[in-house]
Amino acid sequence: MAHPGLTHSDTLWYKDTIIYELHVRAFYDSNGDGIGDFPGLTQKLDYLQDLGITALWLLPFYPSPLRDDGYDVADYQNVHPAYGTLDDFQRFMQAAHARGLRVITELVANHTSDQHPWFQAARRAKPGAPARDFYVWSDTEQRYAGTPIIFRDVETSNWTWDPVAGAYYWHRFFAQQPDLNYANPRVLDAMLQTMRFWLDLGVDGFRLDAIPYLCEREGTNNANLPETHAILKVMRRFLDQHYEGRIFLAEVTQTPADIRAYFGEGDECHMAYHFPLVPRLFLALCQEDRTSITDMLQQTPALPDDYQWALFLRNHDAMGVKMLMEAERQRLYQAYAPEPRMLLHTEIRRRLAPLVHGHLGRIQLLYSLLLSLPGTPIFYYGDEIGMGDNVVLEDRAGVRTPMQWSGDRNAGFSQADSQRLYAPVIMDPVYGYQVINVESQERDPASLLQWMQRMIALRQQHQVFGRGEMTLLYPRNHTILAYIRHDATETMLIVANVSSQPQRGELDLAAYTGLIPREMCREGEFPAIGAGPYGLTLGPYACSWLRL
Ligand code: NOJ
Ligand code: CA
Repeated sequence: MAHPGLTHSDTLWYKDTIIYELHVRAFYDSNGDGIGDFPGLTQKLDYLQDLGITALWLLPFYPSPLRDDGYDVADYQNVHPAYGTLDDFQRFMQAAHARGLRVITELVANHTSDQHPWFQAARRAKPGAPARDFYVWSDTEQRYAGTPIIFRDVETSNWTWDPVAGAYYWHRFFAQQPDLNYANPRVLDAMLQTMRFWLDLGVDGFRLDAIPYLCEREGTNNANLPETHAILKVMRRFLDQHYEGRIFLAEVTQTPADIRAYFGEGDECHMAYHFPLVPRLFLALCQEDRTSITDMLQQTPALPDDYQWALFLRNHDAMGVKMLMEAERQRLYQAYAPEPRMLLHTEIRRRLAPLVHGHLGRIQLLYSLLLSLPGTPIFYYGDEIGMGDNVVLEDRAGVRTPMQWSGDRNAGFSQADSQRLYAPVIMDPVYGYQVINVESQERDPASLLQWMQRMIALRQQHQVFGRGEMTLLYPRNHTILAYIRHDATETMLIVANVSSQPQRGELDLAAYTGLIPREMCREGEFPAIGAGPYGLTLGPYACSWLRL
């Protein structure tokens, strides 16, 4: 079934789109209670359309005690009352689709909230009863020993004792997030019904939260089990059988090779985040050397035509660094987390702009790469205006503060009394809403926001960015990152200087002899390419997009 508003003749839309990630709660409060809501988001769709993005990814908006900001779902088929009603959601969907904006929502399939009726029934049911079997129970904490703990900052075990059940239950995240038991076919059935519910409301895709952990087996580390892939294949078959043009986006925080497995044989996910690339982009910047990026791109498996990487710089979580070498990690901490409280256990809990000390050139360089490397770019709300963070707030709340619309009260986010906001707006003298806000940047042609709009528009004109091949170049000067994006009709040369000094690089462009590079961001022609090395000089953090 195709859904209203958008045609699905192009089932590869996810390769050409640009995604904007947001939390409904953080975006715009329409009724003055201090909490963003669906009517508010609907009012702000013009802004998103003007920005040029073509898909939204909504963080969890379901009923929830919000122990993990909604990743602890208490009802899979409803909207948290603070964010509006199902009718509000439907009106939002219609308005988004009418503007050509697709909507990706969260399928938090691995776990529920401990407040979910399934868990409340399970803990009261007798061992062996069908209701009990929705979750994973044990009489000892010794089962599945050797499984890593993910939220090591707060949890000391993946088991928690439930006095009502008289047993331990399994959880990979907070203790308030019991894992569902996918060894029980009824659980998968229930999840397919959840999918059906949202797909029938027109949702265009699901972000599959924590997808490697669905199944458990003794003697393993309980990630990436073949059983889990089998579940995923059933979910995909269900999606393809009943719907058209809808997608899965996999959240797998592992190596490129392990992530690759989640595309299956074209029978699992359409997209997966490129997690390992993220810290390497920041590493290249502080080392003033492209190698960490080029090494990672070399290790990244090529994908068949209908698969796609999802690229991002920052998101609603802290930046993961666990896949780096110890020395690289220390280098990142030095550069980007000078205060201990900027870390969440080992991860860096900061937004993009403050990470790079508010340096416009560095932000623009990172976005130039995000928009031109192979994959679909994801913007995190607020980063398009260079919003700051609030490290005083706990956990990851510091990067989830209200969107800064204007210099008015509460950043124009809400009419509520300031102390009633779900989180304080950023107020420091550098990133505070009086300085950093949408309204002022809409008036200033030199603003980050308007630069983003221009770059997004430019990318959207050339399908090669979303679908084309990439060839890396290796100029001798390691501060220069250079690559060619090409398809049957277009060839683009991207050259970036990841250092703080002007740099000269010599590129081997012999394969393109006779062609003339033309600047895409500005008017301007370069000398024609000859048989010898092609020399280019770039200012600090400069990135040129050249069309050959
Ligand atoms: C990944 C989400 O991005 C994160 O915010 C959440 O805490 C965990 N999954 C658990 O659902
Ligand atoms: Ca509200």
